[in-house]
Amino acid sequence: MKIAQVMEPMAKSGSDLLRGKILATLFFEPSTRTRLSFESAMHRLGGSAIGFAEAEIASVKKGENLADTMRVVESYADVIVVRHPLEGAARLAAEFAGVPVINGGSGAEEHPTQALLDLYTIKKERGKIDGLRVALVGDLRYGRTVHSLAYALSLFDVKLFFVSPEMLRMRREVLEAVAGKVEVVEGASLEGVVGDLDILYMTRIQKERFPDAAEYAKVRGSYRVDLGLLEAAQKDLIILHPLPRVDEIAPEVDGTAHARYFIQVWNGIVMRMALLGLVLGAIE
Ligand code: NCD
Repeated sequence: MKIAQVMEPMAKSGSDLLRGKILATLFFEPSTRTRLSFESAMHRLGGSAIGFAEAEIASVKKGENLADTMRVVESYADVIVVRHPLEGAARLAAEFAGVPVINGGSGAEEHPTQALLDLYTIKKERGKIDGLRVALVGDLRYGRTVHSLAYALSLFDVKLFFVSPEMLRMRREVLEAVAGKVEVVEGASLEGVVGDLDILYMTRIQKERFPDAAEYAKVRGSYRVDLGLLEAAQKDLIILHPLPRVDEIAPEVDGTAHARYFIQVWNGIVMRMALLGLVLGAIE
């Protein structure tokens, strides 16, 4: 987070820190933000970016496995970002590549760089993380951002509210790991807790990860933040969302003092600049 702060002016006016370095983004799953954000971060540091945005056009389509793809791409790039539908894919990729690998999203498991930018946003907006009451709301089962964020927040002195439909409760392994470190309250009602919160982290119900469309139909639209709900909120409540949103935050909320989800996007750039600078040894 300290280095991300150092990167803020470089993000605005450009830098030569990573001149001559190449980033490869290998995205086997759809993305707008994460891939463009990494590429934009690399360009702002004077480096360049190569890669593919859909597995359909890459050699995996011809049957190439992830290990071989990594052994090939390590010759093309100094650092690799991988997004993959399978859990554990980034870990596996890192075992086969001789250059640093950053997890850009591994199935329903984790999305660590999103968690870092989420933490950075909270710190920047509230001046601290300790002492805050944070709700993670929506799809806590298939949503990978909330898994990484829960792990990260559990390193601080926070109170966590996990709010989801029964079917989409927080993954057991994450719950067990964080419940020993910080206070955790699980529930299904957002109305019941909204007045107690400093941070409201909304997520999309991850339609594409449901094994059965009928199951998705039961929980779609479970939560919607609108002006009515926010009447009960603290004045300085901050609303975050990793985006893309579907219908869980009404557009009327965008203009309120609570909304910070588009500011998160900018913070993603500076956080990823910090990460690239660090893994490439250009900054300490
Ligand atoms: C998230 C993702 O891909 O996990 N998006 C992102 O990277 N900001 C969230 C989502 O898809 O709902």
